[in-house]
Amino acid sequence: MSKPIIEELLSKLSIEEKVKILVGIGDTASSQLARVPGAAGQTHPIERLNIPGFVLADGPAGVRIENPSCRATAFPVEVMLASTWNPELVEQVGKAMGEEARSCGVDVLLAPALNIHRHPLGGRNFEYFSEDPLLSGKIASAYVRGVQSAGIGACIKHFVGNEQETGRWGLDTYVSERALREIYLRPFEIAVKEAKPWSVMSAYNKINGVHCSENEWLLTRVLREEWGFDGFVMTDWGAGEDVAKQINAGNDVIMPGGQDKLEQVLKAVNEGKIPIGTIDRAVARVLSKLLGSAGYKSTPGKPDLEAHAKVAYEAAVEGMVLLKNEGALPIDRGKKIAFFGIGQILTVKGGMGSGHTHPPYVSTILDAARERSLAIDEDLAKKYAEALSTYKEELEIFYKDEPDKPSISENVVGEADIYASAQRNDLAVIVITRVSGEGWDLAPEDFYLRDDEKWLIDNVSEAYRRIGKQVVAVLNIGTPIDVASWREKVDAILLAWQPGQEAGRAIIDTLLGLVNPSGKLPTTFPKTLGDVPSWTFGGEPAGNPKSVTYEEDIYVGYRYYDTFGKEPAYEFGYGLSYTTFSYSDLSIDQDSEQVTVKFRVTNTGKMQGKEVAQVYVKPPKGKIDKPQKELKAFKKTRLLQPGEHEDIVLNIGYKDMASFNGKEWILEKGAYKILIGSSSRRIHLEGEFKIHEEKTFRN
Ligand code: BGC
Repeated sequence: MSKPIIEELLSKLSIEEKVKILVGIGDTASSQLARVPGAAGQTHPIERLNIPGFVLADGPAGVRIENPSCRATAFPVEVMLASTWNPELVEQVGKAMGEEARSCGVDVLLAPALNIHRHPLGGRNFEYFSEDPLLSGKIASAYVRGVQSAGIGACIKHFVGNEQETGRWGLDTYVSERALREIYLRPFEIAVKEAKPWSVMSAYNKINGVHCSENEWLLTRVLREEWGFDGFVMTDWGAGEDVAKQINAGNDVIMPGGQDKLEQVLKAVNEGKIPIGTIDRAVARVLSKLLGSAGYKSTPGKPDLEAHAKVAYEAAVEGMVLLKNEGALPIDRGKKIAFFGIGQILTVKGGMGSGHTHPPYVSTILDAARERSLAIDEDLAKKYAEALSTYKEELEIFYKDEPDKPSISENVVGEADIYASAQRNDLAVIVITRVSGEGWDLAPEDFYLRDDEKWLIDNVSEAYRRIGKQVVAVLNIGTPIDVASWREKVDAILLAWQPGQEAGRAIIDTLLGLVNPSGKLPTTFPKTLGDVPSWTFGGEPAGNPKSVTYEEDIYVGYRYYDTFGKEPAYEFGYGLSYTTFSYSDLSIDQDSEQVTVKFRVTNTGKMQGKEVAQVYVKPPKGKIDKPQKELKAFKKTRLLQPGEHEDIVLNIGYKDMASFNGKEWILEKGAYKILIGSSSRRIHLEGEFKIHEEKTFRN
């Protein structure tokens, strides 16, 4: 919206009206002012001047509106979108979400979430992309571009350091400025600079003693002055304590707001605690973005839900990560398959909390197997259906409200059933599920398999493999779990994450090889929880923490495992395919700004497929400690036919290889290795470039 129009509006608005634009109306389900009842939030309308209430709705896996009349496509959760390593595809997902949000009258979609996978027990890891800031930032930028191409805004969240749920209201996150800038702020910086989101949500927690929503250094100096952010900042729902500190620090909108907050802001203005100029600045920021929103301005449009279901399916199949395959996959269509695990019926589409979705349907694994006319063991399937039918109430909760897995044991079938089924089937597929959600972190027991799950794997493995039949495990989960202790008992493991409404179809089609898996891990699968570097996770005092200190500093995820010689179960960037790829023809060029890396990827196998080529940089030993290697660029190939190749060209700016020394960014002189891999540990090409003079950069 143009400056003169905003200035004119500012001159007409009373102080009270200005404050109303900055404070939400409270609960949209009960407020008379709500344009979209059940949306996460809304600002106050100023009818006299034709300024509508702006509607804000979650969330990362699809539009969430708590109203039975609003059904929206459930897309894969964010960790799965990141597993695609495919920004173009994620942009289509964002666009589809944006169109659906617009059609519901939403002005800002409260997504994507950019916090880092600091620990596998993080309750919202499913809603976050990766342990790596570059992958998070690039995928987030694509997501934001997609959403905003529909004419509404995206809100990147939770700014910053919201890596755990335990004690999140006001938890003090202590983290060095170097780790903040290189790991935790970095994805936000990339998204702000590359995709220009309309909005940023400040996090619940404090950073080094100051609430994020009251933190001027964070919201004004870093976000606006250094990165050039020109949108508006809103609080997370109920975050922070002092509205005057919030608005003065650069947090423009208080959410969800309500009468109390409205009065607090007005009082602070009247007492001179918030200067009028600061209120005007905040109102101008809000209106400059939101008056241009298609959510209320133009015709909302009718989204093509069928086309969006296809996008959801594409994203789901591209996010599947094949962790292990000793000849069991793809499954021959004629084979008789025995499905085990309640997840074949209670297939988990996503996580709980504000990132939950209400789609028109969820394709379950069993439904999809039948739809594809597979020869499944119907006797076993019936046993599962019967066992689950006794949990009527829990199932209603599972399907209608929240995808919470009812606590149903995996001892649905007995040993005799398992052994008998091995005689009449060709192979077994075991589905293991996990659900997590906003508001709490997972417990160590959630990382390791439960006794009933171990019992199931042990018995199925023994019954089938004893007579030469194979066993496949499907992991329908939102964050890494233990695989190291049981992976030898199965012949293949497909990590299906939480794939949204097309879950079943995407899983079955991948198992059959109708699509070739091309996802790669955006986060490390550790061997045990004891190996995880973020040992302070959970905070102190335990159980009711007031603070958490990020002692591992910059050594998060593979940066730690690689530098300190710890072997993970499956490393960052890892994922198999039904075909094979070769890497060749590396050349490296340099100019004054950047390094250019060129190489060729060829499909050397028998099936068409896509590969994710990853470029890591290994620095020389210098004054500043650095991780052994860091991801600096990546590219997913197009679909390559057997024998076909793609020539890849990637640029890496010098600044993006520099480290923050507390004041400025430094790239030390010396010989840097370029490592091209199909994962962070499977390196196929190596080259080198030199930095002759130390380079320094400002923010
Ligand atoms: C969550 C946000 C969400 C907001 C509105 C908060 O509890 O942390 O991610 O956007 O609620 O639903």
